[in-house]
Amino acid sequence: MTSAHDETPLLRVLVGPPGSGKTTLCQAQLTAGRWGVRVSLDDARARFGVDAHDQSATTRALAWAFHHVDQLLARGFEVTIDATSTTARERSNWLAIAAAHQTPVVAVIVRTPPAVAHERNAARERPVPADVVDGMAARVAALTVADLLGEGFAHVTEHTTAAPEEASS
Ligand SMILES: Nc1ncnc2c1ncn2[C@@H]1O[C@H](COP(=O)(O)OP(=O)(O)OP(=O)(O)O)[C@@H](O)[C@H]1O
Ligand SMILES: [Mg+2]
Repeated sequence: MTSAHDETPLLRVLVGPPGSGKTTLCQAQLTAGRWGVRVSLDDARARFGVDAHDQSATTRALAWAFHHVDQLLARGFEVTIDATSTTARERSNWLAIAAAHQTPVVAVIVRTPPAVAHERNAARERPVPADVVDGMAARVAALTVADLLGEGFAHVTEHTTAAPEEASS
């Protein structure tokens, strides 16, 4: 790993249901030289479990991710968390780590129409159960910028990914 930058490190938390486009957005930003280091819960599950969707690996994956993010922030790296983070409880873990480092923490809500999220999910090799997608999509649909500011995020942006017909035009 190369040296950390001189600016205040920043923690960015993506918030979006499966299939909303979090990883795609994050990878595009990384390619453009933004958003620091990506820490993906799916990648961590694949590391400790059978694959990226192995829920039985979540506890170990989270423990690894918390430690990894802690280390990255301590070394001054900007970090982006690529996970669904659709509940306040999940987000509170990241807020606590940022607070421990006195690091500003921002959120990016990634939205897409529920039908699009379902279509993308269904096209996957191992789809997430549809009712799980529904639950997460409903939570994010109800989530406002004010909610996240109230939880402690310093700044919140919203990103809506296109429906297929818009993406191809
Ligand atoms: N802006 C977009 N326009 C069209 N298709 C998109 C867009 N963003 C993502 N997709 C497609 O949607 C699918 C899911 O995207 P992605 O893997 O980024 O979602 P995700 O939010 O990371 O999902 P998960 O939470 O399950 O990891 C992929 O096939 C991707 O190519
Ligand atoms: Mg993803």
